Amino acid sequence: MRKITKIEIITRASKLEELKEALNKIGVQGMTVSQVYGCGLQKGHTEVYRGKQYSVNLVPKVKIETIVCAVPVELVLETARKALQTGHIGDGKIFVYDVENAMRIRTGTMGDKAITDDEA
Ligand SMILES: Nc1ncnc2c1ncn2[C@@H]1O[C@H](COP(=O)(O)OP(=O)(O)OP(=O)(O)O)[C@@H](O)[C@H]1O
Ligand SMILES: [Mg+2]
Repeated sequence: MRKITKIEIITRASKLEELKEALNKIGVQGMTVSQVYGCGLQKGHTEVYRGKQYSVNLVPKVKIETIVCAVPVELVLETARKALQTGHIGDGKIFVYDVENAMRIRTGTMGDKAITDDEA
């Protein structure tokens, strides 16, 4: 069984279309998109103020999850970076996870074969 990896990208909602197209171009086989609220190192504020305690502000973001096995993880990361990087605060974050198993429910196919289109 080939390695299965989940890549979770949290970024600006305005970048969703661009990212979706870029991922489609490199052959990503599926994705799940959610509207989420979050904050990172600036606690949702656009500037860091020193010496004062500011409350956490939750900013609307989009979360894109894709599970890959045939498409190299490095290619997904680089493609996402190219599509999303503006250099400004709030570009987002990417988290990478090992996936233990997967099932295509229609056929009961398990493992990497559940992700690839070998038997679509
Ligand atoms: N440590 C974390 N745990 C869970 N979610 C996080 C974490 N850091 C960031 N996120 C999610 O990623 C989104 C985007 O984060 P953001 O781009 O502001 O990260 P950052 O680390 O503050 O980087 P930057 O300095 O570019 O703003 C957040 O709104 C949140 O949903
Ligand atoms: Mg931030």
